[in-house]
Amino acid sequence: MPLVTTTEMFKKAYDGGYAVGAFNVNNMEIVQGITEACQEQHAPVVLQVSKGARAYANHTYLVKMVEAAVQECPDIPIALHLDHGPDFETCKSCIDGGFTSVRIDASSKPFDENVEITKKVVEYAHAHGVVVEAELGTLAGVEDDVKVSAEDSSYTRPEEVEEFVSRTGCDSLAIAIGTSHGAYKFTPEQCTRNEQGILVPPPLRFDVLEEVSKRLPGFPIVLHGSSSVPQKFVDIINAHGGKMPDAIGIPEEELRQAAKLSVCKINIDSDIRLAITATIREYFDEHPDHFDPRQYLKPARQAVKDMVAHKLVHVLGCNGKA
Ligand code: G3H
Ligand code: 13P
Ligand code: ZN
Repeated sequence: MPLVTTTEMFKKAYDGGYAVGAFNVNNMEIVQGITEACQEQHAPVVLQVSKGARAYANHTYLVKMVEAAVQECPDIPIALHLDHGPDFETCKSCIDGGFTSVRIDASSKPFDENVEITKKVVEYAHAHGVVVEAELGTLAGVEDDVKVSAEDSSYTRPEEVEEFVSRTGCDSLAIAIGTSHGAYKFTPEQCTRNEQGILVPPPLRFDVLEEVSKRLPGFPIVLHGSSSVPQKFVDIINAHGGKMPDAIGIPEEELRQAAKLSVCKINIDSDIRLAITATIREYFDEHPDHFDPRQYLKPARQAVKDMVAHKLVHVLGCNGKA
């Protein structure tokens, strides 16, 4: 089947009490690892591309690799999405260039300005058969060149969502309920420690999610900054020359809970980076004489595939839903 928009997959996810995984792609091994897992698990998937990914790998290469995945995985719906589109021009370039979904991220702008920019993107996108994800509330962390401190981050204000959605006409809404980008989602001071000394993060603001959902019945909500930062990858990285003390993510049980509610799309990027880095660091330690990239990229790709398969089955609940 050709690339699809997210409309149908979100409707089924909302009604079925699961979420679709949205995984960031930056190179061939990542595209292959994700889509092979989805094909095997019969899961719909969103492949998303950031401004940084386009700068790194080039728009055309990314589109062609995703098209190759569509051809190799004929049984599953795949959407190609712009992650955190910073402005109208970037969104337009992706809409014109084969994407089926775009995020306009004007969340750092004042409300009326966010409405105005989002509405302009929606008008252009809808005229071209493309859907739009918008954003209200600001996540802490790094995305592309933008670094948002914890103090400057803000939860989504439920009292704003109805007006925002009706004025913009957006198709889905990314909200902020305590997630953040990267592998350090909480400072140790924000956490408690369990008996083993492992950091336990503060819970997500499910009260905000529930209030948003009540005000937007049937409307798909997106959770981003949703990597879990698996301890096993952090341990491997630290045991093989890396330095990632106190890296911490969102507990999988909380994501599973969100997926059962109105959250239809969950964004994961950092866990892909961790899977690859852990595998390659370990590989280099164990095979200091190897220098063929295929030797170490093969297990790295397999690690992405295994990690994604785990998410599909145990976190998102979208296996068998293609
Ligand atoms: O939003 C953050 C995503 O992880 C994309 O990261 O901007 O470094 O490609 P990036
Ligand atoms: P993570 O850094 O938690 O993987 O978040 C990715 C994301 O939100 C992309 O938009
Ligand atoms: Zn994000």
